[in-house]
Amino acid sequence: MNLSVQLAPKNERGLLLANPVMTASGTFGYGTEYSHLFNIEKLGSIVCKGTTIEPRDGNAQPRLVETAGGLLNSIGLQNIGVTALIREKAPIWAKWRVPVIVNITGETIDDYASLAITLDGVAGISALEVNISCPNVKAGGAEFGANAESAAEVTAAVRKATSLPIMVKLTPNTGDIAEIAIAVAEAGADAISLINTLKGMAIDINKRQPLLGSVTGGLSGPAIKPVALAMVYEVASVVDLPLVGCGGITKADDAIEFIMAGASAIQVGTASFVNPRAPLDILEGIEKFMLEEGMESMTELIGTARR
Ligand SMILES: Cc1cc2nc3c(=O)[nH]c(=O)nc-3n(C[C@H](O)[C@H](O)[C@H](O)COP(=O)(O)O)c2cc1C
Repeated sequence: MNLSVQLAPKNERGLLLANPVMTASGTFGYGTEYSHLFNIEKLGSIVCKGTTIEPRDGNAQPRLVETAGGLLNSIGLQNIGVTALIREKAPIWAKWRVPVIVNITGETIDDYASLAITLDGVAGISALEVNISCPNVKAGGAEFGANAESAAEVTAAVRKATSLPIMVKLTPNTGDIAEIAIAVAEAGADAISLINTLKGMAIDINKRQPLLGSVTGGLSGPAIKPVALAMVYEVASVVDLPLVGCGGITKADDAIEFIMAGASAIQVGTASFVNPRAPLDILEGIEKFMLEEGMESMTELIGTARR
């Protein structure tokens, strides 16, 4: 059975995954935290925590709240910064068989471009995932990914700055995700991943105050799966790029739904907090399904539920 998928067919370097199961940024650290728990090199790709130019401590506590079928987080991009990432993590990744994708994040277009230049050509880094769910400081704090113009601007700046394959990660917190997808595709994205978390909040009724230190946060987990699935289905009708589905995937059947909706690969996020082996279990479940259905390659599965 051939489970491989090419996520950057138009890029010279390409981004060939041995299978379609990836980890979602911010839920799998730098991969190293999980490598003693199971053979993470069996996965299709590892996506690391969102990386900024400078190290960040993140938001005030509390930063995680469980909700019905979901998780609210407001980590605030706590990370070690790009210099430490290149010095401490990339040399480890360079020895792994599994490709590692660095998720990048900025407050200005220049931040994104500078990160892309810095990461270009670093051994151990196979591609960039561009997180555009961050506030655009120069535009009053609206998410870059909330409007087509700024989403395209970030994508074009990163495209110009690197020859690495770039996957742009869309936010669901926008009026028309199809419009954003078209804009980033035209601006030079090699692939699109979707979705990031949905804006949400929870209140402690006894203290009469928001449960999260930063008031609102991002909702993830099973609660968002139907939303994410519909967005993948919609975006697959308007762009001709490989899509990576993400949002509430906890078992193989969920992953297969996303692939049938048009995703070439999927990311497992919050599920890893419940079961650290979830990505591998999901991979094994996909394999089992394909075997039972007599399928020999991913092309027999991708987009098969589309009308
Ligand atoms: C604790 C936590 C931290 C996250 N950090 C990032 C991040 O740094 N960059 C990013 O693009 N997405 C981040 N995400 C979003 C996930 O990668 C994913 O898009 C989202 O959680 C939906 O998938 P899930 O329902 O499988 O978790 C984070 C999610 C969680 C729960």
